[in-house]
This record gives sequence, C-alpha cells and structure tokens, in this order.
Amino acid sequence: MILAIDTSFDDTAVSVTNGITILSNALSTDLSVHQEWGGVVPNLARLHHTANIDAVIDRALRLAHISWTDLEAIAVTKGPGLAIALEVGIARAKELSLEHQIPLIAVNHMEGHLLSFLARPKKKSGGKALEWNMQEIFPAMGVLISGGHTQFVYTKEIGSYAIVGETQDDAIGECFDKVGRMLGLGYPAGKLIEKMAEKGTPGKYLFPVPMRQVKTADTSYSGLKTAAMRMIDGIKDELWGKLSAQDIADVSLAFQDAAIKHLIEKLTFAMQPKPVQSIIVGGGVAANTVVRARLRHLAKEKGIPVYFPYSKKLCTDNAAMIGIAASLHTDQGKVWSDDQLLDRLPNWTIDQY
Ligand code: KG4
Ligand code: ZN
Repeated sequence: MILAIDTSFDDTAVSVTNGITILSNALSTDLSVHQEWGGVVPNLARLHHTANIDAVIDRALRLAHISWTDLEAIAVTKGPGLAIALEVGIARAKELSLEHQIPLIAVNHMEGHLLSFLARPKKKSGGKALEWNMQEIFPAMGVLISGGHTQFVYTKEIGSYAIVGETQDDAIGECFDKVGRMLGLGYPAGKLIEKMAEKGTPGKYLFPVPMRQVKTADTSYSGLKTAAMRMIDGIKDELWGKLSAQDIADVSLAFQDAAIKHLIEKLTFAMQPKPVQSIIVGGGVAANTVVRARLRHLAKEKGIPVYFPYSKKLCTDNAAMIGIAASLHTDQGKVWSDDQLLDRLPNWTIDQY
C-alpha cells in the first residue's frame, strides 16, 4: 500500500495504490492561473503546490479509506519536471516519511506514464482481478506523448528502457498547446483542438508532415507551429483579422492530422530494428481519440496489441502512475532511494536507471 505524490509540473497529485490497483487519485490544478498566462508559470505552480499539498494528501487518504498505519511506503516523483515544483513534493514526502517511519521510493515521472496502462480500478466486491501476463507484453514499444515529451522507448522489461527516438524541439502536447493558443482556444489546448477538429472540413487546409525525408525515429514539431502561424495569419489577412469558428475547426483538423501522421510515421521507424510484442502508450496526448484510433490501426497492421491507460485521467498527469511504478519496482526488489538524501533531478531521463 503506497501513498504517491507528484508535483512535477502544474498539478498537485496524490494517490493511494495497492500494487497496480488505484484506491484513490486526487488532483488539484489551478487552471485559472494558467489560462490567464497561457501556460505554466513555475513560481505560480510552486505556490499552488505549497498551498494545496496537505489538503490533497488528506483527500487521497480519505477517498481510499485508509490511515497512515496502513501505508508501507511513500513514492514521490524525483524528475523530470520543474525543479522548484518537484521540490515541494519531495520535501513533504521526506517529512512524512520521518514522521510516520515509512520508506521513500523515488520514481521517474516518464516511467509512471509508460507503465500507467497497467493500472486497474478498485475492483467491485466479487469482481475478478485482472492479471497481466508480462511475458506477453514485453518487449514493448513505449510511446510517451505529453506536454513535455515525445519519446519512443524500447522497453525490454519493466526497468529496462532505451530511448530510440525523441523530439528534437517541441513536444507533441506542447505543439497542440501553442497552436491552440494561436487559435484563441485557451490552455491546455489539446482537448480543445480535438473537439474543434471534429467539426473541421477535411481537406480544407493541409499542413506539411515534418521530417519525411529524414529516415530516423526522431520527431520535430516546431515546423508545424510555424506553419500554423502562417496559415492563421493568411486567413486573418483575407478576413480582416478575425477567424470564424469554422476556420478554427478547419485549421484544428488539418493541424491535428499532420501532427498525428508525423507521430505514426516516426513510430513505424522506431519499431523497425527490433521486434516487439506490444505497443504501450502514456501521456496526456494519449487521451486524444484520433491518436488512439491511428495507433490501434498501426498495431493491427503489425499484428500486435496496443495498450492505453484505462481512463483519460490516467493519461494526463496523476500520482497513481507513480505509486504503480514504485510498486512494480519493489516487486523486483529494486528501490533506489529510501533516505533523506533524496533530491530532485529535473532532467532525469527514463534510460538513466
Ligand atoms: O502528461 P501531461 O498531463 O503532462 C505532462 O507531463 O506534460 O500532458 C499534458 C499535455 C498537454 O500538452 C495537453 O494539451 C495534452 O497533453 N493533451 C491532449 C489531449 N488531452 C491532453 N492533446 C491532444 N488531445 C487531447 N485530447
Ligand atoms: Zn506528465
């Protein structure tokens, strides 16, 4: 039974997990602040974490119906993320570990996303627990698509990761957010672009798919951002400065289409050198219905399964994934940090274990 804390970015997230079962998943986001500034302001994120962390911890314990004496460990995100935000969760985790005499486990946020597909909801009484057969899943190709990352991670088994392709500039989620901002859609914009794109006219606009001539698994999203800016400026010039709702829908559809085509093409490259038994997907952009459909299509072509987290809430940042990653590591007898020396590692990559 683990209490997990993640303050890597803007969400203050606390969860209680038991193995891969989620007993509670509490979250506090200060969206009003981010919407006003059009993105995350590190200082404001830190203030939000400091002001809310204790209340979110209490909520997570209450929702799980457990007390401190039931807990066996505290898992906390050590990185990657914003240094001054990570510090808040780590400092509190250390205090609680001392106070309640339970060990700490440091977790990599991206490993949390990668393994979040394994999560299971609390089973109803009498329900059957689902068992995963790890031998059938790994080696797997991990697809990490979030606001900070676009990475293809060859996952030999839990704890053994090799990054075989990643973004050279913007992350895919970041690009959704920036294009959404240009379209006046608010923050975070991924979900809003997806909604607008549903009403878009297919073929009205076309974005170039990036890096087609480069035969590697690396992605690049900054070109799409520039293309979007040019396209929007062009429409505005014609329309005396104002985009209609239909224009926004048409640009959203064209942008989303190119962004996902690029992802799928590069993932296809990433999967060429070594065979895998499955595709495993995590990160906020995995909540996108079109992303899911295209990944399912690719997996079907390859004749392998693709796994997503069971709910969209588990795609975006949460602490349940941190508890689950911690639990899987302790199952393997690997615990990296159980002492008061634990410190944040803002640029910690998943392959640096
Ligand atoms: O994993 P996450 O919550 O935070 C990071 O660790 O970065 O991912 C947030 C990102 C944001 O960029 C957000 O716009 C994007 O995920 N996102 C989406 C969707 N839902 C969230 N992007 C596309 N379509 C969505 N439905
Ligand atoms: Zn994340």
